[in-house]
Amino acid sequence: MADDADVPQDSAGLRESAFLKACRREPVPHTPVWFMRQAGRSLPEYLKAREGVAMLEACARPELIVEITMQPVRRYAVDAAIFFSDIMVPLRAIGVDLDIKPGVGPVIADPIRNPSDAARLRPLEPGDVPYVTEAVRGLVGELGDTPLIGFSGGPFTLASYLIEGGPSKNHELTKAVMYGQPELWADLMRRLSDITIAFLKVQVAAGASAVQLFDSWVGAVAPEDYRASVLPHTRRIFAETEALGVPRIHFGVGTGELLGLMGEAGADVVGVDWRVPLDEAVGRVEPGKALQGNLDPALLFAPWEVVERRARDVLARGRTAEGHIFNLGHGVPPTANPDMLARLTDLVHEASER
Ligand code: CP3
Repeated sequence: MADDADVPQDSAGLRESAFLKACRREPVPHTPVWFMRQAGRSLPEYLKAREGVAMLEACARPELIVEITMQPVRRYAVDAAIFFSDIMVPLRAIGVDLDIKPGVGPVIADPIRNPSDAARLRPLEPGDVPYVTEAVRGLVGELGDTPLIGFSGGPFTLASYLIEGGPSKNHELTKAVMYGQPELWADLMRRLSDITIAFLKVQVAAGASAVQLFDSWVGAVAPEDYRASVLPHTRRIFAETEALGVPRIHFGVGTGELLGLMGEAGADVVGVDWRVPLDEAVGRVEPGKALQGNLDPALLFAPWEVVERRARDVLARGRTAEGHIFNLGHGVPPTANPDMLARLTDLVHEASER
């Protein structure tokens, strides 16, 4: 029994799911669809489950993680679940003093500015996040043939929160370290990459079927700087997670000029925000990659006829890619109407049926 619990679920139904097939660039019965932030404040059942529980506290309670992750899967016919947690969870787990403030985002008590500050970031051990292992195992049992996507923050995005001390528009302090303290930058990026690799391994070992690296804010970096200061690290993350044998997705916002480099970093699937049409993205990313995206999340507030036309356009452009997973270009806004997402999910399935 104990042995069983250590073996990730690997049924034929799961392996043959539309989501995993699209990641592997195999023919699919329909275009798979899931939504970044599908679990969250847009769902009344989420708000209810979270009542009186702080975000980081919720991320440490396996039964709550399972419930919240399952909520959108019950409500929508999405093709994958995304593990409910946050990119800051592994940092909190190794002792970084931080909070996630509602309406603000992650806030760090003692931002990293000097070489000795970076030394506080010790490696992550599986024993630091037992609630993640327990929740992933529970979810894999409940989800059956629906794949679970694990995730981690990307090193630039994590470095930005740690250096700025909170959310930042222009990432000026972050870039000041990148340009002015290259040794500190490299040390910080190495440590964060190690934590990311360990966090992804924990989730896959417990049964996650795919992982996504959310380097959400890396679009702030020019291609030349990405190549010199970020790519060596993202490349190592993908090299060291290859043997896990699960598809790896690489996503950022405003990354139109970085898509080629992000492809070079080594993921199996490149996430595209709403600014670059998917057929254009195909030409920017090297062959051998599937694409994920990319309906503008703001369209969720448009009349249905407009949503339908634009979703069909995303599907048509997505057909030029070797594999396509339908998603929004970024997360579901908290004020989105869940009925719109339900309708959109059904439309994607109907309109893409082969
Ligand atoms: O459904 C899912 O996508 C899974 C869960 C998930 C959350 N955060 C839950 C969450 C995932 C994958 C993340 C990743 C994350 N966290 C990213 C990368 C994705 C992205 O959006 O670009 C980033 C940048 C963070 C940092 C962070 N955490 C922000 C900016 C916020 C929002 C702050 C706010 O209140 O507006 C959070 C908090 C957070 N993470 C919430 C959720 C559902 C909201 C917390 C709440 O409900 O109070």
